Amino acid sequence: MQILDGRKAAQAIKDQLKLDAAQLGVEGKKLPHLVAILIGNNGASETYVSAKVKACEEVGFKSTLIRFEQTVSEIRLLEQIRDMNNDPDVDGILVQLPLPDHISEDMVIDTIDPDKDVDGFHAANIGKMIQGLPAFIPATPYGIMLLLEHYKIATKAKHAVVIGRSNIVGRPISILLSSNSYPGNCTVTICHSQTKNIGEICLQGDIIIAALGRAEFVTADMVKEGAIVVDVGITRVADATKKSGFKIKGDVQFETVAPKSSWITPVPGGVGPMTIAALLKNTFHACKTKN
Ligand code: GUN
Repeated sequence: MQILDGRKAAQAIKDQLKLDAAQLGVEGKKLPHLVAILIGNNGASETYVSAKVKACEEVGFKSTLIRFEQTVSEIRLLEQIRDMNNDPDVDGILVQLPLPDHISEDMVIDTIDPDKDVDGFHAANIGKMIQGLPAFIPATPYGIMLLLEHYKIATKAKHAVVIGRSNIVGRPISILLSSNSYPGNCTVTICHSQTKNIGEICLQGDIIIAALGRAEFVTADMVKEGAIVVDVGITRVADATKKSGFKIKGDVQFETVAPKSSWITPVPGGVGPMTIAALLKNTFHACKTKN
C-alpha cells in the first residue's frame, strides 16, 4: 500500500504557483486576487475559508475575506457579488457553501461572473467542462485529478466507482474520469443513496472515489485487492480527547481498507490540501487570462 500524499503534492503545486506569481510581479503585472465570502459562523466553513485565505498568502496572491451575518439578505449578498464582478482588481470570487436556508444557492452561483468563478460551480463552467472545453473545474475534483497525475496513477480503461452525486464532487469527478484525457478514460459508475448492492458495485472498482459524507462508510469488504482509494470525506466526529472536541473522519475506514489498496489517500492530508491547491491554480489562471 502506498499513500497518495495530498500535502506533498499540494506543496509542489504551491511552490510552482509562488514562482509564477513572483514572475508576474517581476513583469510589473497584477497579482492574482481571490475574494472569499463567508456567511454566518459555521465552524467547518470558517476553517476551510481561513485555510484558503492563508494559502493565498503563502503563494503571494492577494486575498480578501468578506464576512456577513447569518441573517444577511439575499439582495445584499447578490449586490456584493455584482460589485466584485465589476471590480477589475478581483480575479476570483468564491462564496463558501452551505448558505443559510433563506438564500438561494442557485441564485448566488448564477450571479458570479463565470470568468471569476474559481469554484467552477456556474452552469457556464459546468457546461464547458462536460463538453471538454477550457473551464474552471470545481476545486475538489480538480484536486483529485492533480493528485492522480502527481503520482502518475494509470487510469485508462479502469473501472472507477464514484460514491456520491453532489454537484461539488461526485458528478464533476465522474465526468472528468470518463473524459478522453489523462487522468481519465475510465469506465465510471456513480452510486448514491438509492443504489442497491453498493458493496458489490464498489468491489468491482479499480478506483473508488468516496464522496458521500458519511464517516467510515467504505469498509474492507467493499474494496477489491489492489484498488486505488480516494477519500473525499471530512466528517467531524465528537472526540472528548481532542482540544477542539472533535476529530475528522473520512468516508473510508482507513485502518481496514488501506492494507487492501494499492494507493490510498489519508484523511486529513489527502484530498483536502489538493482542493486548496486546485483553487489557487484556478485563481492564477483567472488572473493570467486577463493579464
Ligand atoms: N463547501 C464545501 N466545499 C466547497 C467548495 O469547494 N467551495 C465552496 N465555495 N464551498 C464549499
